[in-house]
Amino acid sequence: MAIGIFDSGIGGLTVFREISKEYPYTDIYYLGDTARVPYGNKSKETIIRYSLECGEYLKGFNIDVLVIACNTASSYALDILKNYLNIPVIGVVLPGVKTALKFTKNKKIGVIGTTATIKSNSYKKFLLKEDKDLEVYQKPCPLFVPLVEEGMLNNQITKLIIKEYLDDLIDKGIDTLILGCTHYPLLKDSIKSIYPNINIVDSSKATTEFLKDIYKPKKENRLRKIFITDESQNFINLKNILLEENVEVEKLELSKICKL
Ligand code: DGL
Repeated sequence: MAIGIFDSGIGGLTVFREISKEYPYTDIYYLGDTARVPYGNKSKETIIRYSLECGEYLKGFNIDVLVIACNTASSYALDILKNYLNIPVIGVVLPGVKTALKFTKNKKIGVIGTTATIKSNSYKKFLLKEDKDLEVYQKPCPLFVPLVEEGMLNNQITKLIIKEYLDDLIDKGIDTLILGCTHYPLLKDSIKSIYPNINIVDSSKATTEFLKDIYKPKKENRLRKIFITDESQNFINLKNILLEENVEVEKLELSKICKL
């Protein structure tokens, strides 16, 4: 019994952390494609190819379910991975949508993410499919990822950039904001401090709730293994912020996953 999780890099450790808390006795393998991050400014074809390679690699560990922790990969490669891997695959988009629908009262929802995620309209499509009366306002926030990777989570520059990106959405009257990127949950406190009345949807928590509905493992094992394709200082910084426990980390040669 095992869960596989992948992300373009280390932001997906926010999802790993939540799933790890909910599944204390289950083996969990995480692959962060740190050598090729970011996916958020790549083409659809490249995002799909990288996602297939990550999913295929994790499937080699006999995982029962694959979680695409990356919003960009979820936006472009979810159905393709489902067909290709033949195991349950969940992305982060639908869980985020379901949670936003529970929160919103005025039916005005903001979505932020990478340039590729926003361009795909993945959140907007799912939201309007659930309720065609919603008003959905989207905004790419490309500077948020480097801010988080640099550990600049709560300083004045970060708050100025948050306002620069989000004031527009707030002016539209949104009551709910979906953090459609793995890194953004780390900015949640700063966002909340500027806009205390907005409901914030954290995909990492929403995805774990979703996973609990479809995957109920036996209490057997407890292996935690993180693979990364490149070891950077940013990885070490973020890992230290996110993970309390001593999780085994292995650096993989990229050639091990580039088989397709
Ligand atoms: N993991 C990506 C996401 O959630 C953010 C980083 C990237 O651009 O690859 O969209």
